Amino acid sequence: MLSQKEMKELVGKSAVDSLIDKGLLVSGMKLGLGTGSTAMPAVKRIAERIADGTLKNIKAVPTSFQTQIACENFGIPVFTLNAKEIAGSLDLAIDGADEITSEKFLIKGGGAAHLQEKLIEYNAKILVIVADESKKVLTLGTKFPLPVEVIPEGRVSVTAALEKLGAKCTVREGIKKAGPVITDNGNIIIDCIWEKPVDPVKMEMAINDIVGVIENGFFTKNIPICFISHADGTVENF
Ligand code: A5P
Repeated sequence: MLSQKEMKELVGKSAVDSLIDKGLLVSGMKLGLGTGSTAMPAVKRIAERIADGTLKNIKAVPTSFQTQIACENFGIPVFTLNAKEIAGSLDLAIDGADEITSEKFLIKGGGAAHLQEKLIEYNAKILVIVADESKKVLTLGTKFPLPVEVIPEGRVSVTAALEKLGAKCTVREGIKKAGPVITDNGNIIIDCIWEKPVDPVKMEMAINDIVGVIENGFFTKNIPICFISHADGTVENF
């Protein structure tokens, strides 16, 4: 049986190879590259397929500092979403997720990168999600806390508005840093949990309507192709 780390490595690598075999990932593409411990093996595999000559002239847009540094280390050419070579849109983006329902609605942002992830992934023609089997769930909102990126000055007012939507709120604390997590964009994260499952389509819009909210971690608008790895070494694609 595979460990969770082995499942993450398996799914990252096999998703990239499968996308290449199916002709969905080809030379010349503009790619969004995700953040986290499952996206990283996919980024590494893309670098290997660039190095072996399969993928040529790839232009990548990283979704975080973590991914930008990984791309620099792997030798993948990086651009911003605004660069004229990218012009605000991507052919394909690949990333991990914290929770995935059967409708392929997601929670993302466990690594506090969901603002740039959503900006990049909602502007990608194809979104691919790679995850191990622990990420599959029936409903959203009650187990993995939904991250909401908030302007620091909005901490109290946004918390009150989120509570009106039924959420129990916690400001995310840093690790090896006293006080709140500060995102790649200079904001804080309020993690939200509900007693009962919520409708992610409605809640994604309702939360973003609150003044001071920059973005929340429900992803319901660009339905992904999913690759899920299992402990028995198989990879499911749906
Ligand atoms: C980063 O903010 C996230 O959206 C990640 O994609 C998500 O947390 C999954 O991370 P892991 O692959 O590390 O579990």
